[in-house]
Parts: sequence; C-alpha cells; structure tokens
Amino acid sequence: MFPPSASSQRNATHPPNTLISQHPLVAHKLTKLRDQATSPKMFRELVRELTSLLIYEATYDLELEPVEVQTPLTTCAGASLKRQVGLVPILRAGLGMVEGAWELIPGAEVWHIGLKRDETTLEPEHYYANKPVEPKVQLCLVLDPMLATGGSAIAACDLLKSWGVKHIKFIGLLGTPQGAHALHKAHPDVQVHLAELDEVLNEQGFIVPGLGDAGDRQFGT
Ligand code: PRP
Repeated sequence: MFPPSASSQRNATHPPNTLISQHPLVAHKLTKLRDQATSPKMFRELVRELTSLLIYEATYDLELEPVEVQTPLTTCAGASLKRQVGLVPILRAGLGMVEGAWELIPGAEVWHIGLKRDETTLEPEHYYANKPVEPKVQLCLVLDPMLATGGSAIAACDLLKSWGVKHIKFIGLLGTPQGAHALHKAHPDVQVHLAELDEVLNEQGFIVPGLGDAGDRQFGT
C-alpha cells in the first residue's frame, strides 16, 4: 500500500518500495540544496525543511487510535498516534534531519547509528550505536540524506532488525537507482522516501549531479 499523489514511482528504474516526492516545494528546495553557492547555514535549513516535507509524506499510513478531546465548548471525538515512532539518524549527515522530523513528531525517540564509508571499498563501517535498553518503538524512520550504493542504509536496517524492530522506513534526500535496488533487494519490506533519484554514481561513490558531501556541507568541513 503506497501513498498519495504527492509521491510516486516515476519510472521502471525504481523498485516498488521507492517513492519519489512529486511536491513542488521539495523540487524547489532540493534545487537550492544542490547549488554550490548555498552556505552551510542555508544548507542546514533546507535539509530540515526537506525532511519535514518528506516525513509528512512518509507518515501517511501511521495508525491512529480514537481519543476524546475536551474543546473550550464541548467534547468531541479525536485521534492520537497509536504507535511510538523512533527516528534513527545515520551519523553524521543524518543528524541534520532530526529537527525536521521532530517538528512533526515531537514525541519520537531518537536513536543513533554511526556508519562511515571506507573511501576505497565504499563499504560502511560501524563506529557507534545507541538505543534505549528497553525500546518502546514500533516504527523506525531511518534518516540519511544520501542513498548512494545503498550499503549504509542496508547496514542500518540490518542493525535495527537485529534489535527486533519490525517496521522500518528510510527517509533520504537523494538516491541512485543502484542504491534503491540494493536496498530493496536486501530489505523489500522497507519503504523508501526520497526527494529525487539521480542516475549516476561515479567511481568515488558520489551521486552525480548530486549535491556534494551532505555531511561536509552541513558541518562546514
Ligand atoms: C555518506 C552518506 C551516507 C552514505 C551513503 O556518509 O551520508 O551515510 O555516505 O553512501 P552509501 O549508500 O554508498 O553507503 P559518509 O560515509 O560519507 O559519512 P558522513 O555522514 O560522516 O559524512
């Protein structure tokens, strides 16, 4: 079951679990994000805003439970989120996406996974993991701006499943068909939401045309 018209599978190069936003604000803000003249401050703001828009689209199917609410005039039937949500940024670059997600889901827990790609092999290496001893989360939203080879996203989903997480969605800004297919092959149950899919992954593992290194551009390094 996939979401609203705001997201769609644009062509056959997408695996069926991958949704590319069709929202004009996403396209507008992504263009500014790509621009090499965009400052780290503006880059961080755009990452936060794009994340909010993508989270809005990705949470279309969150379960609700009925609650009664007292308005200033009377009581009426309302709804409340049924499941506890976890936000899981992949360090470093995913950190900048947390605020944008938290703005919409302020009650979410935040767990951290540290992964760094080896620059030669492009394989992800674990260096940090932090989750509560007794997690209450039933849905994890993995946050990482870039889905290049897909190795980091796959490793993050592997780790979450080894911790017992049953429901995972991946929220990214830019991906490649190669990365999307690799993630789908490894985790076909994980729904993927992206702002855009670029066609090329160069020999250094950078997405082209891309936006450069999302970590360096956020943190000014
Ligand atoms: C980047 C990016 C992803 C990963 C994507 O992180 O933020 O985590 O690479 O590549 P993949 O799909 O081929 O695994 P990087 O390893 O550069 O670390 P950083 O976030 O600390 O800059």
